[in-house]
Amino acid sequence: MFKRYPTFKVVVTALLFMQQLSVHAQSTTETKINNLIKKMTLQEKIGMIHANSSFTSGGVKRLGIPELVMSDGPHGVRVEYGRGWTVLQDADDSGTYLPTGNTLAATWNPKLGYAYGSVLGSEAKYRGKDIILGPGINIIRTPLNGRNFEYFSEDPYLISKMAVGYIKGVQDQGISACVKHFAANNQEINRDVINVEMSERALRELYLPGFKAAVQKGQVNSIMGSYNKFRGSFATHNAYLMNDILKGEWGFKGVVISDWGSVHSTIQAIENGTDLEMGTDLRLMYNTVSQTTATTNNVTKKSYYDQFFLADSAIAMVKDGTVKESLIDDKVRRILRLMYKTNMISGKRTPGIYNGKAHQQVALRVAEEGIVLLKNSNNILPIGKERVKTIAVIGENAVRENAMGGGSSQVKAKYEITPLQGIKTLIGSNANISFAQGYKIARGQGPDQALIEEAVKNASKADVAILVCGWTHGYDYNKWDDNAYDAEAVDKPNMDMPFGQNELIKAVLKANPNTIIVLMGGGPMDISAWENDAKGIIQAWYPGMEGGNALAKIIFGEVNPSGKLPYTFPKKLADVPAEKFGEYPGINGNVEYKEGIFVGYRYYDTYKVEPQFPFGFGLSYTKFEVKNAKVNSAGNKKYVSVNIKNSGKLAGAEVLQLYVHKMDTKITRAEKELKSFTKVFLKPGETKMITFALDDSAFQYYDEAGKKWAIEAGQYKIMIGNSSQNILQSLLLSR
Ligand code: BGC
Repeated sequence: MFKRYPTFKVVVTALLFMQQLSVHAQSTTETKINNLIKKMTLQEKIGMIHANSSFTSGGVKRLGIPELVMSDGPHGVRVEYGRGWTVLQDADDSGTYLPTGNTLAATWNPKLGYAYGSVLGSEAKYRGKDIILGPGINIIRTPLNGRNFEYFSEDPYLISKMAVGYIKGVQDQGISACVKHFAANNQEINRDVINVEMSERALRELYLPGFKAAVQKGQVNSIMGSYNKFRGSFATHNAYLMNDILKGEWGFKGVVISDWGSVHSTIQAIENGTDLEMGTDLRLMYNTVSQTTATTNNVTKKSYYDQFFLADSAIAMVKDGTVKESLIDDKVRRILRLMYKTNMISGKRTPGIYNGKAHQQVALRVAEEGIVLLKNSNNILPIGKERVKTIAVIGENAVRENAMGGGSSQVKAKYEITPLQGIKTLIGSNANISFAQGYKIARGQGPDQALIEEAVKNASKADVAILVCGWTHGYDYNKWDDNAYDAEAVDKPNMDMPFGQNELIKAVLKANPNTIIVLMGGGPMDISAWENDAKGIIQAWYPGMEGGNALAKIIFGEVNPSGKLPYTFPKKLADVPAEKFGEYPGINGNVEYKEGIFVGYRYYDTYKVEPQFPFGFGLSYTKFEVKNAKVNSAGNKKYVSVNIKNSGKLAGAEVLQLYVHKMDTKITRAEKELKSFTKVFLKPGETKMITFALDDSAFQYYDEAGKKWAIEAGQYKIMIGNSSQNILQSLLLSR
């Protein structure tokens, strides 16, 4: 009989053969690596494990080993610094500026994570980079963290899904991703010195899963050790984090790169898992490291790079027998492995693309799917383009560019569409558009009455006002910007809207109730002063080079919003568990995460603290009906299915979120935990059946006493909703 499909046996044999081939390829690469290492002098090996310029580490020319070239990340290939610390003026470095990490996470669409990573990988390749320093995936523990805009979420499951997509996207381009900052780097205040203490359970359940997924599911080639200390020792050379967990339990075979200047000791870096030391020259330059290393090794006149902890002093330690050379070999082996995997030594790289139209489309799509509609009373949105003749756009953030803001994540964008430009492009000559600045961006600046009056005048004459407010990044890459609220090395002082924005918003809402408030920035603000009076509120984050276009399309209904908050927006700062339990930003250099596992919605939902907007929340212009939740079991695996229908008149997408709750638990557990989600795209009237597969990981908790993951036997409530607080279907099942 003619067989159209191969038999099961043929498929299995083919798979086994392919697996053998890959094992063989791996072992021949390992042999090649070992042979190379045998040929290297100690000096040559050491040259490979520390920086030899701002973003490169040494190669070995005579053996055909190139330098390793890195670039930030995480939402574009960074403006070009060459080998120093001054931006090069004549570089070809105006590239794609993607929406920031929190915007990507708000899409809840791992496929976009992949597309995003592909853009970065391709552009990094074009720019001659081997590693892109991203994604940044630290848990959002407090809304005040200055780097939340780069990060993804308060939830480890959402982080894992988005990070794996991103990493695969980068690495399928033949470039390495570098997931950062490992671990417990959840604040910027005192980041260089702060010691983080937390329970083992919080570590395992919240702070590590994203990294574990990056290593085991994403197969990430490198990981960055963070600045902070963890349980008394610096994270970058922390024996527990690096040796026991990362390289031991998780079997990580790639490269641990230090954050820039996060190494503090030669012996610890050698023994405790740091493979490549970067950025110590910054500390030497700023003289924050004592010159003892330099003088004891008598290298005062040598370059900063020889004074690195993994440079001359490491050579000395191997020579005098303090450490074994095999430890150095292991670091070199990891770097060579990364080089082979990304065709740096043998093989050929495909060409990268810079600034392609397709890349800009990814930036647009992420912004369209990531911008979140938070409030839409009386269906004030979308605004019918034909219905309005005058539009008042107000607010400095409507004209401010953000690509170069925020610290190391700065990008020189080929172009950046601001909200005002996006609105003008979309509206064309259909309506008159006025602009008023509204507020002055200057730290400490209160309400500017003249600007408010101008804004009120414009708003009262307009059919609709669009008021663009929120946080700000820094602006200028070569000098410190005092207006950097969302930025590296600083946290926000509080959640209050700066620059007199509350007063402005109140006055404009009074002058014209048809006002849409757009909030930009890395996270929530205290909006209690005017929230009740506003009919339309949009969270626009830092939406990248196409952000203004995406925002305009959402406001005027060309795009149906589908973004969902990747972290809870609390009503006020005092509600945040890190604040409430009293340990942020720490006491005498120590911060204890006393809230344990109760971070984000795990806290708000368990302790019944009402947030301003819950985790997973975001509105659409259409309606969805979710029905018929059912469960099927296959051994320990559970398959939960539901039907979702678009019962409105517009095509749209809903994110179905599956939360798990343990009934009658004997241990302390959160009210609910996200264990699966899927973004469903539906035409009007269309219905789809969605099935969620739940394995052991959906039911486990970390048992500290037993030092292992465990499952409580009994009943579990499965809840499916479109936010952590809007549960649409639930059912019980037993495990
Ligand atoms: C940041 C890292 C960044 C590195 C290199 C550090 O200050 O914390 O995220 O990759 O600088 O620019």
